[in-house]
Amino acid sequence: MSKFDSPAGINPLDQEKVLARPHARKEGPLKVTGQATYAYEYSADPDLQGTTYGYLVGAGVARGQVTSVDCSVAEAMPGVLLVLTHENMPAQGASDTPVPQEDDATPQMRSAEVDYYHQAVAFVVAETFEQARAAAGALVIEYDNRTAEGDYVLAEVMEDAEKAGSDEESKDQQVGDFAGAFRRADVQLDVTYTTPYQSHAMLEPHASLAVWDEAGEELTLYTSNQMVHWVHRGISKTLNVPQKNIRIVSRYIGGGFGSKLMFYGDAVLSAVAARTLGRPVKCALTRPQIFNHTSHRPATVQRIRFGADGDGRIHAIGHDSYSGNLPGGSAETASHQTKLLYAGENRLVRQRLSELHLPPGGSMRAPGEAVGMLALECAVDELAEKLEMDPIELRVLNDIGYDPEKGPERPFSSRRLADCLRRGAEEFGWEQRSAQPGERRDGEWLIGLGVASAFRGNLVKPSSATLRLEKGGKITVETQMTDIGTGSYTILGQTAAEMLGLTLDDVEVRLGDSEFPKSSGSGGSWGANSAGTGVYYAAEELRKKIAKAAGYDPKKAVFKDGEVWEDNKCTLLGVVAAKAPEPLEATVNATFGDLNKQYAQASFGAHFCEVGVHRVTGEIRVRRMLSVAAAGRIFNPVTARSQCLGGMTMGVGAALMEELHVDGELGLFINHDMAEYHVPVHADIPDLDVIFLEELDDKSSPLKGKGVGELGICGVGAAVANAIYNASGVRIRDYPLTVDKILAGWASRSGSQGR
Ligand code: MOS
Repeated sequence: MSKFDSPAGINPLDQEKVLARPHARKEGPLKVTGQATYAYEYSADPDLQGTTYGYLVGAGVARGQVTSVDCSVAEAMPGVLLVLTHENMPAQGASDTPVPQEDDATPQMRSAEVDYYHQAVAFVVAETFEQARAAAGALVIEYDNRTAEGDYVLAEVMEDAEKAGSDEESKDQQVGDFAGAFRRADVQLDVTYTTPYQSHAMLEPHASLAVWDEAGEELTLYTSNQMVHWVHRGISKTLNVPQKNIRIVSRYIGGGFGSKLMFYGDAVLSAVAARTLGRPVKCALTRPQIFNHTSHRPATVQRIRFGADGDGRIHAIGHDSYSGNLPGGSAETASHQTKLLYAGENRLVRQRLSELHLPPGGSMRAPGEAVGMLALECAVDELAEKLEMDPIELRVLNDIGYDPEKGPERPFSSRRLADCLRRGAEEFGWEQRSAQPGERRDGEWLIGLGVASAFRGNLVKPSSATLRLEKGGKITVETQMTDIGTGSYTILGQTAAEMLGLTLDDVEVRLGDSEFPKSSGSGGSWGANSAGTGVYYAAEELRKKIAKAAGYDPKKAVFKDGEVWEDNKCTLLGVVAAKAPEPLEATVNATFGDLNKQYAQASFGAHFCEVGVHRVTGEIRVRRMLSVAAAGRIFNPVTARSQCLGGMTMGVGAALMEELHVDGELGLFINHDMAEYHVPVHADIPDLDVIFLEELDDKSSPLKGKGVGELGICGVGAAVANAIYNASGVRIRDYPLTVDKILAGWASRSGSQGR
């Protein structure tokens, strides 16, 4: 039985001898000693000729056609081996959108057409990186430049927005009579928030090394990617090479945040060039290429309306989210959480999509909620102020235990939102907050407190794994699952160890290789729970095999302390392994039934923030933060806490600094490096605190956990923004919240308050 379609009963994981305990990352020592090999660091087979270096050349126009590429100078330069352009690219699989899709080919330079700025137009391969880069600079590329025909500014195309997508997530939520209820409400709020384009800005750039066998038939692609089976299938479709002839290796990943769900020019062009040359090719995108050549989080315009009675009960809730993307791309689903988060019998929640010709928009950490909550949770703060209510009490009053659209027949599998808010208020000292902005001071600093709910939908995906009992009694786990810095190596090891009665040291976890069984991969916070379920079911199977091999009744067998027991008899696993004629091994594919349809499933939390706003300069400093989270069983409090800290840090970035600036004429993101795309640095981040509330969710998986990797970013920026309002009295509805906007807010107010 490997389909999870009824709530989990008591199982060996409930012992929590290894799982749910703090363990440092298994691969940590390898990483800090430089022994963890990342994609760009592999050396090709020494029997082959040396590895060569590819340099991607991105289009210098946002729309148009390449009319000529003069390679003559470049090709004559030292060390240059190959210049690929659309003219000499071999045939590739087709896609009907320039936005990479999980199910489709992602061709590069398939034609002369340019769909977006920095789309690949050439790829130069040379003996060294420097030679390739120098030659790339010597290419003369001419365009029929149609950039002026494109649309690059969301506000200018919003009117033509269409319904985004046909899937469940994209559906409008229309319940009751929103317009009427809103009109009749005692207290109304109608506000529009905007969030900018953001970049994943992960540490490790997109990088690939392509190695073909001598016949040019079999490819090994070392690439930094979150989703081994997606890139496996996608590269196969792109190159028209059967999947069985392609091996994908992605063992360590220096961050992805969604940017590495798909694959880009480094992967495809290295593979094509390596086959053409008969030599290995590696390519890492340069930092400035990443911002336009790969994906970003789309900007949003979000209109939120609340109608409430004087006591604070919400009767009408409306959320319209607008975003744009290239043809065939998807919307930023920023209104998604509003379908589920608060009560209200009249609802209108929509998302709309416009065509824009900027680079491809994609998923970035908690797509939808991360920016949806920036707007929604500030709007709740605004509503609380109108009602003269405490924002925590307002949230608790409108808490709801079931899907507000489907009714009590669809309860939440578990939901501790109110507990998170209350516990956080107590720990953070919420009573210190003054409802009146600008009242608390510390010298020249205005001090404010802010709160926001956290919400992230819980997703699960099929995932398989192999567990093998090795001679000596240790266990090997193999699955295509990736570890993007999240702790997969560790928590999958803990899961296997718990199931087999071993310690974490007795388990070797091998990930990120298409030779292993297909896994959920890492995305959407589904990885730990889903891949863990694959390991769980494979462990169940292996337990049966071990018990049988030991001569015990599998139903009665108990695994503990490295031994298998039946009643008062026991055998060491090492002895079972030694006696078995062939290795004991189990491979199982875990699937999920419809429990996530029967039950609404999400992780919940509450974010608290204290800021200081300098009363003269408007400088904003985050002073302390706390997140309280309830996300089912926490498989490893160390790695889960790190996920929350990372999310909170990114949330500070979203609130205060992260913004890709659009050149509305040239159609590109102009601040395409880390000097000008600002993310928080250590000095921006004070002490952060995380508390996990105890929770087991038996409807989510046999592990009884829920997604946690993205929960930390969902809502946290709104807590920062609400704290800034509480400190300064300035409500900024256009992210990020920068000093100039604070000063403008003060300047526009007569009788400047709080200064
Ligand atoms: Mo996540 S944005 O699905 O890596």
